[in-house]
Amino acid sequence: MLDPSREGGPEVFGARLVHNAPEGRARRLLLVVEEDIAPVPGQFLQLGVGGGGETYLRRPISIADWDGARGLLELLVLPVGKGTGLLASAQPGSIIDCLGPLGRGFDLDAAGPIPVLVGGGIGAAPLVYLARRLAERGCPPLTFLGASDHPGLAGEKSLTALSRGVVLATEDGSRGATGMITEVMLRNPGELEGATAIMACGPRGMLAALKGMARERGIPAYGSLEEHMACGVGACLGCAVPMSRPESGKSYLRVCADGPVFPLEEVILA
Ligand SMILES: Cc1cc2nc3c(=O)[nH]c(=O)nc-3n(C[C@H](O)[C@H](O)[C@H](O)COP(=O)(O)OP(=O)(O)OC[C@H]3O[C@@H](n4cnc5c(N)ncnc54)[C@H](O)[C@@H]3O)c2cc1C
Ligand code: FES
Repeated sequence: MLDPSREGGPEVFGARLVHNAPEGRARRLLLVVEEDIAPVPGQFLQLGVGGGGETYLRRPISIADWDGARGLLELLVLPVGKGTGLLASAQPGSIIDCLGPLGRGFDLDAAGPIPVLVGGGIGAAPLVYLARRLAERGCPPLTFLGASDHPGLAGEKSLTALSRGVVLATEDGSRGATGMITEVMLRNPGELEGATAIMACGPRGMLAALKGMARERGIPAYGSLEEHMACGVGACLGCAVPMSRPESGKSYLRVCADGPVFPLEEVILA
């Protein structure tokens, strides 16, 4: 059930939190990992957050960045409820209980020589490690980052360093162009000239707009989906989403084990 093509297998491990600082409305967490987890960009961890009761289930959080040589793992956590609130307030020195890496990430070979990344809000988290791996292959991406407002932008500094260019947009105009990032892309169609793939993570509306844009231009597009998760390893079917594949018609796939990254053309987003 778990993806055999991943670089490392999933495991349970403890990671020591060494840094916790604000990044806009989110928190940037740095953790030391003893194991060589060798994640694929786009994979995630199921994190035990403690607290018992309503936070009994692990919470899925993307691997925002990974430095294998130093065993340094980066997470970007937006506190939206009790679980992410507990994570965001964890103190340096705490051990975070991790299961992973999980899921199928972005296919680096599918990115081609001129990749375009698009992140919406906290959805930018997995794009940092993706941009790093693409830059290492000599194909730094052009990155589009959007959010409702400036504090909602995540990963801006790292993505600016790792990309060949970054376009920013906020709905209230507090940083970058004014409007949704997909509106800004539509206003500047030349930016997608020659793009070999679009790789994205963010709200469904953003993914739906990208799906249309990519289809119109004949560019392959891949999106990382977010769903409520229970087990995170493909067993409970709690994260199933409808897909439409030419060979099999409508079917349901599990975001945790078959994704979270899917070709947007196959995802039913409406
Ligand atoms: C593959 C994957 C990767 C993710 N990566 C990150 C990340 O890098 N950083 C980050 O901050 N968050 C990420 N998330 C979202 C994060 O898992 C949820 O915000 C978290 O589980 C909410 O738990 P909670 O206890 O804080 O909130 P809860 O009290 O459980 O919920 C608070 C609110 O968030 C909504 N919510 C809960 N879980 C999800 C979910 N999975 N998707 C959408 N809405 C949800 C609830 O409906 C509710 O409105 C990711 C989710 C997935 C599936
Ligand atoms: S969360 Fe259980 S199958 Fe995906």
